[in-house]
Amino acid sequence: MDRLTAVILAAGEAKRMRSRQPKVLHPLCGRPLIAYALRTARALADRTVVVTGPNADDVRVAAGDGATFVEQRERLGTGHALGQARAACGDGPIVVLAADMPLLSSETLERLVAHHRGAGAAATVLTAVVDRPQGYGRILRQGGRVKRIVEDRDATDDQKKITEINTSVYCFEARRLWKALAEVRPDNEQGEYYLTDVIGILAKAGSRIEAVAAPDPIEALGINDRKQLAAVAAILRRRILDRLMADGVTIVDPASTYIEDTVTIGPDTVVEPQVVIEGVTTFGTECVIGSGSHVTASRFGDRVALKPYCIINDAVVEDGATLGPFCHLRPGCHIGAKAKVGNFAELKKSRIGRGSKVPHVSYVGDTTVGEDVNIGAGTVTCNYDGVRKHETKIADGAFVGTNSSLVAPLTIGEGAYIGAGSTITQDVPPGALAVARGQQVVKEGWAAGKVKKHARPEE
Ligand code: UD1
Ligand code: CA
Repeated sequence: MDRLTAVILAAGEAKRMRSRQPKVLHPLCGRPLIAYALRTARALADRTVVVTGPNADDVRVAAGDGATFVEQRERLGTGHALGQARAACGDGPIVVLAADMPLLSSETLERLVAHHRGAGAAATVLTAVVDRPQGYGRILRQGGRVKRIVEDRDATDDQKKITEINTSVYCFEARRLWKALAEVRPDNEQGEYYLTDVIGILAKAGSRIEAVAAPDPIEALGINDRKQLAAVAAILRRRILDRLMADGVTIVDPASTYIEDTVTIGPDTVVEPQVVIEGVTTFGTECVIGSGSHVTASRFGDRVALKPYCIINDAVVEDGATLGPFCHLRPGCHIGAKAKVGNFAELKKSRIGRGSKVPHVSYVGDTTVGEDVNIGAGTVTCNYDGVRKHETKIADGAFVGTNSSLVAPLTIGEGAYIGAGSTITQDVPPGALAVARGQQVVKEGWAAGKVKKHARPEE
């Protein structure tokens, strides 16, 4: 069979987004918009060509390997954009899709190509019948056959009533496509070279035009403005949650749960309401993700409990650990198995060993904590001297008393004890007790004297 080329049109100016960023880089459920079209195209094409605008290095980076990029220097319309891809295409069928329709499925694209090949058509258009066709190109038929596509802004009032729309997804026979494309003229309201005109040109020349309807018109939803971006995101989000629930994850309240496409969660994990999970994040089985938690780019083992309101970014958390409520893991933390990081603890770039505890109101930064260590409430690692960051090491079995300041660089040896309220500035050897605080002074009977002194003189 002829090799199939997919061309993704991604050079549009996206005026309606009112953004300095290219439309195709706007994030949608954790991936740049263009990633969806790429995934759909790659699922069936032998080669994928992306037409980008000028200065599209960011788009190339986001798209990654596996595609050829061509530049459309001037944005002269969808027809002109496809023309730029000619040299990069093969002689086999050419599938064209817009970069801004992330709900298009590869199954639908496959059906389109199969129908095109079966019918030996010059062009096959993916259409959809929608309730609100405003903004879309309309399919004009004659005696049932597709004759032409008219853009919304060029349509007459009667044509505007047509509900069969052009999805902007096509399959073309290469030779006849390029010939017809050369005949396209920019004589329309926008003064652009419309790819849609190719259909009319081919039909007029007596070529066979086929149409395949998308099984669900939702697949045709294009993102042209931020309102549509939000609407499509809501649909995608619901699909992600449905997939997770089908895989055995409990989502207590799908309406208030935001999980990106890049997240994997094991069965019997419970996601409580108001949770956001983003980036490349994985949870094992039987975890609990407490309400109000916001998790980014992190890896969790099995049976991890996140009590409500944990903010976690770029962490690794091993089996059976407990976090929160209200804990903040800033980037670079590794929490060992069965460890506990509790209320109002902020950790940064730190390792907490197996079974160790940082249960209450602490700051731990640039620190390595061994196994079975207890860090008392209010402990602060003083890791910053105003110029540089310094490291703290707390070995296995150490006990750090409440309200201690550990001034880094510092090493606390295995099994050592720090007395509560200490400011520790020197290393503490294994097994030692370090106390660094003002000596307590007790004055017996002092209070009674004070009462006497301040008593009112007798009248
Ligand atoms: C297009 C179709 C319309 C269809 C609709 C479906 C045309 C003329 N119209 O309209 O019939 O109903 O899609 O969503 O094709 N692009 C370029 N270079 C350009 C212009 C556009 O690469 O010079 C790219 C855009 O990045 C986008 C795609 O082509 O990915 C479609 O362009 P857009 O401006 O969104 O077209 P619509 O007005 O939506
Ligand atoms: Ca569009």
